[in-house]
This record gives sequence, structure tokens and C-alpha cells, in this order.
Amino acid sequence: MLNKKYRDEAVLLKKEKIPETPKIVAWEAPSNIALIKYWGKKGNQLPLAPSLSMTLSNSNTRTEIHFKKAEGENGTISFLFNGEPDHPFVKKVKKYIHRIEPYFPFLKDMDLYIISRNTFPHSAGLASSASAMSSLALCICSIETMINKEEFSKERFFQKASYIARLGSGSASRSVYGNFVEWGRHTFGADEFAYPSSVKIHNTINFIHDSILIIASEEKSVSSSKGHSLMKHHPYKEARIKQATENLDKIRKALREGDFESFAETTENEALSLHALMLSSKPGYILLKDQTILAIEKIRNQRKKNKTKITFTLDAGPNVHVLYPLSDKDKARDFIEKELKIHCENGKIIHDFIGAGPERVDKNNDS
Ligand code: DP6
Repeated sequence: MLNKKYRDEAVLLKKEKIPETPKIVAWEAPSNIALIKYWGKKGNQLPLAPSLSMTLSNSNTRTEIHFKKAEGENGTISFLFNGEPDHPFVKKVKKYIHRIEPYFPFLKDMDLYIISRNTFPHSAGLASSASAMSSLALCICSIETMINKEEFSKERFFQKASYIARLGSGSASRSVYGNFVEWGRHTFGADEFAYPSSVKIHNTINFIHDSILIIASEEKSVSSSKGHSLMKHHPYKEARIKQATENLDKIRKALREGDFESFAETTENEALSLHALMLSSKPGYILLKDQTILAIEKIRNQRKKNKTKITFTLDAGPNVHVLYPLSDKDKARDFIEKELKIHCENGKIIHDFIGAGPERVDKNNDS
């Protein structure tokens, strides 16, 4: 059955309306936060170094695609993102779909009506490309299985979805899986798609929460794409590859052994190294704010002096992801409320936690 809100948006999408009997596919995919950072690319959207992320639960994008064989010679794409037909993301996605046509030749002859919506507020200052691109890639891979009536193994289906999501946004390759996810060649693994981490997580750190302090929700002054490209001739490029590889080993060990102190040290080293790379690129730039620094100093103090299992990571922006395991949730939440909230824009904090990964949400549909 179609979700009513999406049906209404679908009707808005085209003046001539979506035909009465299109097929529908829908996926809800989560955002992820990297602990070992992907920063810098090579070749066709391949990572310079391996990364590891934690998939979230509440920060999702839901994408629904209504599709049918095109009436004209060429297919058309109509797209509504967060209810807006002119959202900047719409242009990016249309280009992206043309780029992935060689992998899905049937797309050329299809009329596609795409409706995508984030479940987190637009103004939260959170990157949405990982969840948006992965939900879109999952939908397109599901359309392929429906059209070709081909049964892929589950493993192959998600590998292809990760590969295709990667072409839209590197970090999106990791959002097709839940829990801890790795991407990039290391002792094993691949650069072309992400894969679920094989590390057996110790039960003392196996349910990590992420409270996102919204320090500033404004658009960042330098995009991640620009940041990645500045790594090409970065004076610390080789050192960064070595550091990420070593930090991945360290964090795997810490997760396996339940060593929170080592987990925290590695996570923080990665977050601050990411920003150090931005500071030292040519031209250098600063995305951190004074409130970011004040908050992270307090978090470090709280861990050392008050023995709370709490740490942080940063994305390519000023917001702080405060990480703590379930065992220390009450203590951490109390501290966040009393000590960290004052550093947030309008006191805004988004509470999230590690999640199980994307879900296909059109199951009741008769397609
Ligand atoms: C700092 O995946 O947004 O969040 O591949 O150009 O779309 P593109 O970049 P993007 O970069 C994410 C960088 C990061 C670290 C990470 O997620 O690993």
C-alpha cells in the first residue's frame, strides 16, 4: 500500500500525474558516522585509505520510486526532495542517474518518479548525502531485480547497492549496512564497495549512542568534495594513508577487547586529524567553531576526571558527535544536558544510536 503522504507528493510531481498503475519500490536508509575517516579519493570515487563507520538509527532518508516503461522514446526523471522539485540535490541526482545508466541499461527507457525525504530536520546541519544516495541506490537495485526477475543473493544485492551508492557519494557506500561497516582495501576488503565489519564487538561497547551537538547548522564554507580534492597534493597525503590504516587496526582491537580508552583515543585522533588535514591543505580552511573546541575539552575532562565512558568524533563541520556506550547512558546524558547543551545553537541536540541498517519499506505493495 502506498504511504498517503508520498502519494500526495507523487501526484504533485507531474502535472499529468503519475499513472494509475506504476510499480513502486521504497527503501529507508540511515546516515552513518565515520570513526576512521574517508578523506581523499583516487580513480573513480575510490578511497585513498580505509575507513570504518557506525550506522545510525534515527537519521534516515526514505526514498520511493514509482516507475513504468516510458511512453516516449526516452525515459524521464521527476524528482522531489524534501517536498521541493528545485532542491539543489535534485540536479545532482538526475546527473547521477545518467552516470549509472551503463550499470542499469533499462533506466534509459523508464519514466521515474522519485520522492525522497529525510526523517531528520533539514536545518540540523547534518550531512544527508550518505542516507539519500544509499536509499536511492537500493531502490534502483530493487527495480533491477524486479525487471530482470533475477534473484541475486542477498550478499550480491547489497554489494551492488554499495558499489552504486559509492558512485553518488563515497560515505553512502557504508550506509547500505548496519552496525560497524568498513570500506577500503586493507588486509582484506575492497575499494569498490563497503562491507560489514567482521570484528566481534565486545559487549561493553556494543551499543554505542551518538548525541549530535548542533553547534552550527549553516551550510559549510568548504564542501567535502572540495576537501577530498585538496588531498591530491596534500603534503601529508602519504602519512594520512598510513595513519588511517594503523588507526583501523587499533580501533578493531579496541572494539574486540572492549578497551574504551583506546577506542576513545583512536576516535578522537581521527576526528582531529581530519580537521588538521583541512587546516594544513592548500588553501587551508577551518570548519571548527569556538564552541566545538569548548565542548570537546569538556568531554575529554569528563572521561579522564569523572571516569565516564564518553568520547567524540567530528564530521567535516563544526558539530560534535558525542559517543558513549549504553552502560554509561544515564551519566552521559546528564552531563550533556548540564554541560554541553549551552554550546549548541538554540540548545539543539539530536540523540541517535547504532542501528541495524536500511529497510525496504514497500513490502505491502503488490509489485
Ligand atoms: C568527513 O562521502 O560526503 O564525512 O564522496 O565526495 O560524496 P563524496 O564525499 P563524502 O565524504 C565524507 C567525508 C567524511 C568522512 C567519512 O564519512 O568517512
